[in-house]
Amino acid sequence: MAESDGRPLPTTTPPHVLIFPFPAQGHITSMLNLAELLCLSNLRVTFLNSDYNHRRLLQFTSVKSRFAVYPELFYMLGIADGLPTDHPRCGEQILDLFESMRSVTKPLFKDLLLSIRPPLDCVISDGGLDFPLDVAGEVGIPVVHFRTIGASCFWTYFCIPDLIEAGELPVRGGEEEMDRLITKVPGAEGFLRCRDLPSLCRGRDLSHPYLQGMVSATRLSSKAYALILNTFPDLEGPILTQINSHCHKMYPIGPIHEHLRTKLKNLKPTQESSSSSSSSLWEEDRTCLGWLNGQPPKSVLYVNFGSITVMKPDDIIEIWHGLINSKQRFLWVMRQGSVVAELGSNSNSNTSTFPEELVKGYPGEEHMVVSGWVPQKEVLDHGAVGGFLTHSGWNSTLETIVAGVPMICLPYFADQQVNSRFTSEVWKLGLDMKDACERKVVEKVVTELMVERREELGSRAARMAELARRSVGLDGSSGRNLEALIEDIRSMRRS
Ligand code: UDX
Repeated sequence: MAESDGRPLPTTTPPHVLIFPFPAQGHITSMLNLAELLCLSNLRVTFLNSDYNHRRLLQFTSVKSRFAVYPELFYMLGIADGLPTDHPRCGEQILDLFESMRSVTKPLFKDLLLSIRPPLDCVISDGGLDFPLDVAGEVGIPVVHFRTIGASCFWTYFCIPDLIEAGELPVRGGEEEMDRLITKVPGAEGFLRCRDLPSLCRGRDLSHPYLQGMVSATRLSSKAYALILNTFPDLEGPILTQINSHCHKMYPIGPIHEHLRTKLKNLKPTQESSSSSSSSLWEEDRTCLGWLNGQPPKSVLYVNFGSITVMKPDDIIEIWHGLINSKQRFLWVMRQGSVVAELGSNSNSNTSTFPEELVKGYPGEEHMVVSGWVPQKEVLDHGAVGGFLTHSGWNSTLETIVAGVPMICLPYFADQQVNSRFTSEVWKLGLDMKDACERKVVEKVVTELMVERREELGSRAARMAELARRSVGLDGSSGRNLEALIEDIRSMRRS
């Protein structure tokens, strides 16, 4: 490795770390950023993707050239995820991966751990997957869990057995019941309601394998060698303290995308950071950036519901009319396959009432609809964007916080119900419209965010963005935690 690129020269053979994300966009993005942070500290990383995502990453991103600057430190491998190629892997069906990976991927994973060379010193596995901890334990490799959700949702999953024991779960149904306050999530008393629990808690069947699997994987993190979280104490400090009483070795190193951007900028101040290079599993459409250039500062509401959400056509129509009625400018990005029964095909809902612009997607003067996938971080950083109507995925939440943009939250599933509550009630960085996807509500919250409370929410968002950026500096909490994590991994090196 060249000394001139600013990185320290390796003095010994680097420790070898295997990074293994759950096969979905949000998980891959943050764990790939972690991989690059480790390479920057001269650790050798093998990044293990599902074969399906491995192919897509190579097809749609510059991942090869991005990591070519770490010769002999970064390798990528694929492993079967157990689903057929034509499985949609989105919406609720993404949960099928838990079962298929347990039956198909698990034995392959064990073979890989035994055969990989040089031998592994450490596995960093997605904390949402339960089997890597057992399998690596059997072959004597320490496992660090990386949880790609926020600390608040991690902690909520952790507390679910206590909620059940106290009779706070199951939720019995009915609007009043959904507003009942939960008291057994320490640190969240007084604001977390039944409707804000992870979506899997909404069913009456608490023995549901996905809920049980998620809770047991979360509890397992206290048995892992350490727990990495993509967050920072200024955002989730009180909840981190709660988690720390169960997971003693904990490394909050987020926001990871900003952490990487800062490190790369410090190394090469004049060069564009590689965190702006994409890890997208879809081809990026960049035309919206040109359209944004023609819009007044902070005038555009960006609308995007992430990589997994599948929406009902009726909800799309309500959002559309709410946006139009608000008379605010907007940029709406709809991923292909993000509407139940693709537009125009069989559906119980009447998709023929979809406005033409929504079906075709075109740049208008005051709004633009993109049917595809955009470079989200660049969009959020654009000066014309004044708000984000989001599904509250954790990566989107952190990217928006770093960009200093206020949010309207319309969560779809999983952790998003929790994230949206913390965004609105605790951090006061936006408005939560969960379970109320009606045009009048959309119009009201858009007007509130973009006009009536613009100054107030804008200045809170700017303040939190500053704290996020500080946390990833060398003297910031996440900066120091990353250094400690790297030292810890070095100490695992087997002779
Ligand atoms: C879901 C969860 O809600 C998330 O919290 C969990 O950790 C992973 O699964 P997802 O729908 O992928 O996540 O949302 P999010 O976590 O926000 O990640 C989406 C990523 O895709 C973000 O990094 C975002 O910048 C990127 N993106 C999305 C694009 O780059 N372009 C797009 O058009 C849409």
